[in-house]
Amino acid sequence: MKALRINDYGAPLHVDEVPVPSPARGQVLVENHFTSMNGVDPGRGLGYLRQVFQLQFPWTPGGDVAGRVAAVGDGVTGFKVGDEVFGYTREAGAYAEFVLVNGANLAHRPASITEEQAAATALVSQTATQMLELSKIKPGQTLLILGASGGVGSLAVQLAYNAGVHVIATARSSKAAALQQLGAERVIDLAQQRLEDLPKVDAVLNLIGGDTVLPSYALVKKGGVAVTSNRPPIAEEAAHLEIQPAFVETNVTTEGLNGFVKLVTQGKVKPQIAAVTTLWSPETLWDKHETEKIGKIVFSVRS
Ligand SMILES: NC(=O)c1ccc[n+]([C@@H]2O[C@H](COP(=O)([O-])OP(=O)(O)OC[C@H]3O[C@@H](n4cnc5c(N)ncnc54)[C@H](OP(=O)(O)O)[C@@H]3O)[C@@H](O)[C@H]2O)c1
Repeated sequence: MKALRINDYGAPLHVDEVPVPSPARGQVLVENHFTSMNGVDPGRGLGYLRQVFQLQFPWTPGGDVAGRVAAVGDGVTGFKVGDEVFGYTREAGAYAEFVLVNGANLAHRPASITEEQAAATALVSQTATQMLELSKIKPGQTLLILGASGGVGSLAVQLAYNAGVHVIATARSSKAAALQQLGAERVIDLAQQRLEDLPKVDAVLNLIGGDTVLPSYALVKKGGVAVTSNRPPIAEEAAHLEIQPAFVETNVTTEGLNGFVKLVTQGKVKPQIAAVTTLWSPETLWDKHETEKIGKIVFSVRS
């Protein structure tokens, strides 16, 4: 089968021909049709997470999977060959034609969610859901979502709106109308307005990180929660401001994916896809894709 691999930290992605893996106990082999862009993949490839995830080279990145079951390992009861499925593998390996995924991180894909949408949401739907849970936000309260036009943010806006929460989002102004349609009451372009000048809110979901973490803490009312996704909490500053810091470590489960699929099927959440492009262009795969649409960059494995 074809797979994209890197030979060392920071080395370029390239196409290799490799054997199709066999599922071990509890694993499902998925014939992969679509995967998608997650910042953790280039991050791991560059060695940023080598303390936590040491890589064995050659290494195949990729987490999101959408396709059909090709084989099941011993002990797998919920899936059979031919089932349409989607899910996420923390062990990576999804930039390939066949992928091993633990049955516990996989769900059936009904016709109400396309393969592209499934690959676009397996990880980030759970991140958005779990960040909202961590934020402890309640109906009628106000939530600020920083970096709302991406994979996590475009779903978090919808989930928060459905929960009766007032959403203030940040995004480039060209993406404001799309986010307002999904339920954001106000969209702020940080190129035109300073974070420091925004009103106080009950909680923040921060999908940008970097130097926005500290100023975003200052926007949270006393007793509120600031949730980060790519920067560890700054406990001292949070204690000083009398807010609660939280960090999401997304756990993708069959149950969580089924819950998300239900919302899509009921028309309550619409997965957002910014672009679909081939997986087999390793030189440019991780370049920033400039698109006027919100949501995820999806990679097609079969074309
Ligand atoms: N801890 C976990 O378990 C977990 C799980 C999933 C994701 N994450 C992390 O969560 C973050 C969000 O994920 P995602 O999939 O939603 O990423 P994404 O699709 O790349 O979205 C990131 C958003 O942030 C905006 N942004 C980035 N840098 C910015 C800056 N300097 N100023 C203003 N806006 C900026 C982007 O806007 P533009 O596109 O307009 O620049 C985009 O809307 C990523 O860092 C990802 O690695 C963590």
